[in-house]
Amino acid sequence: MNEDDRPGSGAVGARGPRPGSSPVVMVRRDWDEEIDGATVPRTVVAALTSRDAVIEARGLTKVYRSGNQRVVALDGVDLDIVHGEVTVILGPSGSGKSTILNLLGGMDRPTSGTIVCAGSTVHDLSDAGLTRYRRDQVGFVFQHYNLIPTLTAAENVGIGSVRPRRARRFGAGRTSEEPMDPQASLAQLGLGDRGGSFPYELSGGQMQRVAIARALAKRPALLLADEPTGALDSRTGVEVMDALVDAARDAAVVVVTHNEAFAEIADQVVVLRDGRVVGG
Ligand SMILES: Nc1ncnc2c1ncn2[C@@H]1O[C@H](COP(=O)(O)OP(=O)(O)OP(=O)(O)O)[C@@H](O)[C@H]1O
Ligand SMILES: [Mg+2]
Repeated sequence: MNEDDRPGSGAVGARGPRPGSSPVVMVRRDWDEEIDGATVPRTVVAALTSRDAVIEARGLTKVYRSGNQRVVALDGVDLDIVHGEVTVILGPSGSGKSTILNLLGGMDRPTSGTIVCAGSTVHDLSDAGLTRYRRDQVGFVFQHYNLIPTLTAAENVGIGSVRPRRARRFGAGRTSEEPMDPQASLAQLGLGDRGGSFPYELSGGQMQRVAIARALAKRPALLLADEPTGALDSRTGVEVMDALVDAARDAAVVVVTHNEAFAEIADQVVVLRDGRVVGG
């Protein structure tokens, strides 16, 4: 392999140009990497710098089974996620919003259907492949924050951008190559003076903003946020919306929300009901 073929060089390592100025860039990586003892193809390290759809989901179906019960959480959803855009997913409780975010973010696999990210398949990756996809491409704001209670706010933010030594050596992907300073990321969310606070010292809305700062600091190519304004007053909610819209200059941003104000500023609105797209 020569120098130019390595992930991290050329288009893969570069920050994406502003929307509208970029050609379609689909970089397929053919060599293998060992993660946790398993060999996985390097197929999803592509830079997400295309103005075209970076994620194409087709016929996404997710069926949960518990005992005799069968819950169809998603039922044949087609969706394109575009670099440089904010996609908002609306829908009543139980309509499949978190489920679709989990599938797009590689937290779970669809029962059927396909997810293609920058030309490479995600739906059939091994566990190790999914781990690398999440690590290299995805920033996730969880509905319930998932902060580590024994770390300060700044440490919680910083930990999202840490990558294993091996991944650094190979320069895989672009995520975390230029992570934001945790303090700067917290300041962007109005928490510049709370970097030393532990989660138990923060309000619910402040914890939510730390979780958002953690995802933003990673500078992911794909930013997925599940109810990011759920615990916030309307003014703070607007600040968070601004931060997420700002992140979409250099990422694909998908926001699940009950907040209709978000729909007004979105580039794409997807409305789910009973696991199906009913509008947008
Ligand atoms: N792990 C699971 N096992 C069984 N059923 C599940 C599981 N996760 C989700 N479901 C079911 O799938 C459906 C969709 O759930 P999902 O969490 O995607 O809804 P949602 O739109 O995010 O709702 P909310 O707005 O309340 O967060 C629901 O009926 C839910 O009960
Ligand atoms: Mg949900």
